[in-house]
Amino acid sequence: MSKIPFNKCVNAGNELDYVTDVVSTGRFGVDGTYKSRCETWLKDHYDATDAILTQSCTDALEMAAMLANIGPGDEVIMPSFTFSSTANAFALRGATLVFTDIDPVTLNLDPKEVAKAVTDKTKVIVPVDYAGHPCDMVALREIADNAPQDIMIAEDAAQALMASENGRPVGVHADVSTLSFHNTKNIACGEGGALIINNEIYKKRSYILSEKGTNRKAFFLGEIDKYSWVDIGTSAVPSEMTSAYLLGQLEKADEITLSRRKAWDIYYDAFAKLESRGVARRPVVNNSVYNNAHMFYLLLESNELRNKLIRELRDRNISAPFHYIPLHSAPAGLKLGRATGNMAVTDKVSSTLIRMPMWNGVDQIAGQVIDAVLEILD
Ligand SMILES: Cc1ncc(COP(=O)(O)O)c(C=O)c1O
Repeated sequence: MSKIPFNKCVNAGNELDYVTDVVSTGRFGVDGTYKSRCETWLKDHYDATDAILTQSCTDALEMAAMLANIGPGDEVIMPSFTFSSTANAFALRGATLVFTDIDPVTLNLDPKEVAKAVTDKTKVIVPVDYAGHPCDMVALREIADNAPQDIMIAEDAAQALMASENGRPVGVHADVSTLSFHNTKNIACGEGGALIINNEIYKKRSYILSEKGTNRKAFFLGEIDKYSWVDIGTSAVPSEMTSAYLLGQLEKADEITLSRRKAWDIYYDAFAKLESRGVARRPVVNNSVYNNAHMFYLLLESNELRNKLIRELRDRNISAPFHYIPLHSAPAGLKLGRATGNMAVTDKVSSTLIRMPMWNGVDQIAGQVIDAVLEILD
């Protein structure tokens, strides 16, 4: 059998035409047409205060940490079941990371655990929408609003583009949210990201942070007659090559999502029998949620069985990986943070989860993956 990769980036529309346009016109410079067009697409999609394209979700998270004025002594609450970037962004500014357990059904921050983790030093809560499934933002917002100090909610929506809840895109209820367009994401350009701003107070400073701490944007908007260094900042602006490719993908976001949903549904139906046998459980998607089919995972009954499945699928040339290793017990997590509670759900989920191959068009070969999984687990 030829190799079935876990993911691949598939051209969906005008990506190559747009990239060719950049190369042939030589307009590689930042702040070009394609970056603006991507930002307009995102701003409209989210009905956001603004959207700023970045070179990665990591960049956008680091900008969120700067917007929150994080410094030593501040605490930031986040799941342990996430990527290192969620934590790094705040650790880089000296924060203490407070790792909190996840809900066993959604695999997202458990608000009950978050409520226990809040102290008078909490400055930011960082919910992560695992597999694109939205966090309980109503409960998290209530926790933030009930604290005596201001708490920012910076949602790591790296996996959530095109997912929505009650018709509103996932990410709109946070002060800021961050997106990834890394190769593994639904809409991808190799490396890319965005900061979505939903709270006006963060808008002006976000431009400055992304432009190396200068007010260059205000200069280009004609608001000032020269620009200078006014704040800390980073170099987050992506090149026009990247933005051009991304625009081709964004314009086809609905089609890409539908193709992934087709595959997701095929996996979901086929693996019902594993659930009825008690061997594995499938993802749960609330009725109010439009699933962006970022990921199809199974939670196996044991770590041994999960590892056997990964190994034997690999022997059959099918790449189906595990996911996050908990941050609270990772070497950097032990140095830079602390855990609230026993983190039992995080540990269990991390040791039993496997992800199925997923990309735009995977529905064509999903049958081969399903046959292999069912045979191995028979
Ligand atoms: C939850 C989460 N946050 C952040 C990131 C980092 O994204 P990027 O690679 O765009 O920096 C990832 C990467 O997969 C992720 O899964």
